[in-house]
Amino acid sequence: MSEPVRVAILGATGAVGTELLELLDYRDFPIASLKLLASERSAGSYLTFKGEKLLVEAVTENSFEDIDLVLASAGGSTSKAWAKTIVDSGAVMVDNSSAFRMEPAVPLIVPEINPEAANYHQGIIANPNCTTILMGVAIYPLHQVQPIERVVVSTYQSASGAGARAMEELKVQSQAILNGQDPQPEIFPYSLAFNLFPHNSPLNHEGYCTEEMKMVNETRKIFKAPNLRVTATCVRVPVMRAHSEAVNLEFAAPFSVTEAREILANAPGVKLVEDWQGNYFPMPRDASGKDEVLVGRIRQDISHPNGLELWLCGDQIRKGAALNAVQIGELLIEKNWLKPTTSMANISQ
Ligand code: A2P
Repeated sequence: MSEPVRVAILGATGAVGTELLELLDYRDFPIASLKLLASERSAGSYLTFKGEKLLVEAVTENSFEDIDLVLASAGGSTSKAWAKTIVDSGAVMVDNSSAFRMEPAVPLIVPEINPEAANYHQGIIANPNCTTILMGVAIYPLHQVQPIERVVVSTYQSASGAGARAMEELKVQSQAILNGQDPQPEIFPYSLAFNLFPHNSPLNHEGYCTEEMKMVNETRKIFKAPNLRVTATCVRVPVMRAHSEAVNLEFAAPFSVTEAREILANAPGVKLVEDWQGNYFPMPRDASGKDEVLVGRIRQDISHPNGLELWLCGDQIRKGAALNAVQIGELLIEKNWLKPTTSMANISQ
């Protein structure tokens, strides 16, 4: 039995924060104390944990003094603002934002792929981008058998990826449109209801948006494959929760569909969902609330002898964010890697 630890959730009132609360309970995470932190906006409100009402506090300089592990999901600027305070107070932050992911001194962890890298932290461990985690869990088991040379991925990303207020906007907007109104979007730049649009994160000079480049760079870092060729097109779709991805993989030599299916049927964190007769494959509604990444439609790429095609759906809030963070916390406790550190020397602030 692991020694219980003192946990804080930074961003406890958000879509990922509330899921973190649920997962800590459902997975029986060894908790000595639990502190819920958010902005001034929700300070004074209450959230329920194991049937008990817990006060939400505004984050302050003193918030982390009695904390071992911070699960942060309050956006990149909040993580950047509090990282030094957290590390200086001896806690370890598992950060769901993109603020530190590509820092060489910050491990970027998917426990099914590179758990050993979590030992080399200096107080901060990054949780990868949701689309990267979901794809990584599904394709890494194949990459281990035969290295992937190139990945071409198209994503179909739900509203949940933009947070709780974005999910509410999709719901309210859908109802309003059905009532004959045309409301102005506030969270997304365009109406998402009855619509879709290329991911609206900033574009680089090559025409790729930030979300797409996260898939490229983070996959390379997690796989320890700096030369892996990855190209992505990320699209926001009017789905409430759970992302989908169409993935084309090119290997050095042919990879049989039968073998790929066998490997994925036994891969950690993956559930094979393939009913070829019934034409039934993974769907975001089936993936919602599930821990596993659902994978199906594995088929030979008819345009390339070494290519495979597959389709996946995974809960963005769960494995794409909260569950992965909780698994990292469990790994740190189990391996006794939750060592306090006082150095952010190699991490830019
Ligand atoms: P709050 O509810 O007080 O705004 P989501 O990703 O679902 O939008 O959630 C974001 C989470 O991050 C919420 O819990 C939100 O709290 C929290 N948050 C946003 N900005 C800050 C901030 N400056 N300091 C602390 N928490 C913040």
